[in-house]
Amino acid sequence: MTITIAPEVLRPSARTPIDPLTDGRESCARLLSTDAARAALSREGTPLMLLDLAPVRRCYRRLRAALPRVRFHYAVKALSHDAVIAALGDEGCSFDIATAQELHQVLRAGISHTRVIHTHPIKKPSEIAEALRRGVRTFVVDNESEIDKFTGAPPDTRLLIRLAYRSPSAKSDLSGKFGVSGTEASELLGHAQRRGIRIAGFSYHVGSQLDDPGRFARALTDTLDLMERLEKTAAARFDTLDIGGGFPVAYDEQVRPLEDFAGVLAPILDERARHLDVIAEPGRILVADAMSLVTSVVGIADRDDGRWYYIDDGVYGSYSNIVAEDVHPLVFGVDEVLQDEEPVAQAGNTRRRVTLGGPTCDSADVIARDVPLPDLRVGDLLVSPAMGAYTSVTATTFNGRPVTPIVVIGGQTVP
Ligand SMILES: Cc1ncc(COP(=O)(O)O)c(C=O)c1O
Repeated sequence: MTITIAPEVLRPSARTPIDPLTDGRESCARLLSTDAARAALSREGTPLMLLDLAPVRRCYRRLRAALPRVRFHYAVKALSHDAVIAALGDEGCSFDIATAQELHQVLRAGISHTRVIHTHPIKKPSEIAEALRRGVRTFVVDNESEIDKFTGAPPDTRLLIRLAYRSPSAKSDLSGKFGVSGTEASELLGHAQRRGIRIAGFSYHVGSQLDDPGRFARALTDTLDLMERLEKTAAARFDTLDIGGGFPVAYDEQVRPLEDFAGVLAPILDERARHLDVIAEPGRILVADAMSLVTSVVGIADRDDGRWYYIDDGVYGSYSNIVAEDVHPLVFGVDEVLQDEEPVAQAGNTRRRVTLGGPTCDSADVIARDVPLPDLRVGDLLVSPAMGAYTSVTATTFNGRPVTPIVVIGGQTVP
């Protein structure tokens, strides 16, 4: 069977900007008008992360429906919150951990070790020993020294070799730090075979926030080609393929729907990977839309380059994703979001382009320039949607500011 995929799906998207006057507002308005959000804000004040578990559950169900042959391991690193782990555990999701701390958190939630894989390619020997002691058996490696750490591990231990695929258009190209070429993978396989250590298959990550189904498809076919070649030439038998994460979400640009990615991956998996246990490690797509950040204006200054609003969270805090990942969350005034359609249109007329500064003393702590916002006063609230992934987990306490608290406001159960 030859797989034919429409060329427009295989091309990276044209990065259509989101209209800040309309997109994202509705979901913010719905969230902020709930009793739970209002109560949390009046109790906690700002800055505050509002976590709704319903989008997490819905996204997991959507992933399952789109790629029914894939077993999903949530990449805990994206948002390591107990409520997220509990909700996904409840939905039947498995977990991808990178440290002993993440492992303990998942096990504390009552998740069986059989649903956990350890995908950090470089681990302290003591972390490997701890994961093995807790029953984890699937690990990722990408060099001989790491393989050697598994000498004497229980016989049911299974290693996946991490491959590197360049993805310059991803927001985080993950191929620079980890992963090997096909040739190097073949040498690592030989190295493991000589030591009696089982290589069960391969793993890769195409890069995070990658809006390019063609890249996902090429990485998959290249890996399957390599696996078939090595099975013929190196007397190997593989049973596992880990296709990583990377599915994009909309920040200030539209991205393709998950189903476009599934549409290119599913036919390849159906045709060529029926004999394999196919797993994926999505992080961002499962949690990004689940959390919104509410901040307030702390100070206002009119400078040579225009109006500045200084708010109570910044790039050393929850907006750490701006610096670490070069993603750009939208920011709205809460009052305008809560107005009905007519006043929103009027507010659009009175907007001005402003700079948003974070709360620390550092000049690098600028959240956005040229943001269209209505006139605001000290104490007015702002909201950013899609703040669930790689935000709180990468926030610092620079200047003594605590990491912004997270309050769960819904989705504990979803029929
Ligand atoms: C090994 C590994 N797996 C999974 C993920 C999650 O990727 P994403 O959030 O892009 O889905 C990452 C992200 O950095 C990763 O490094």
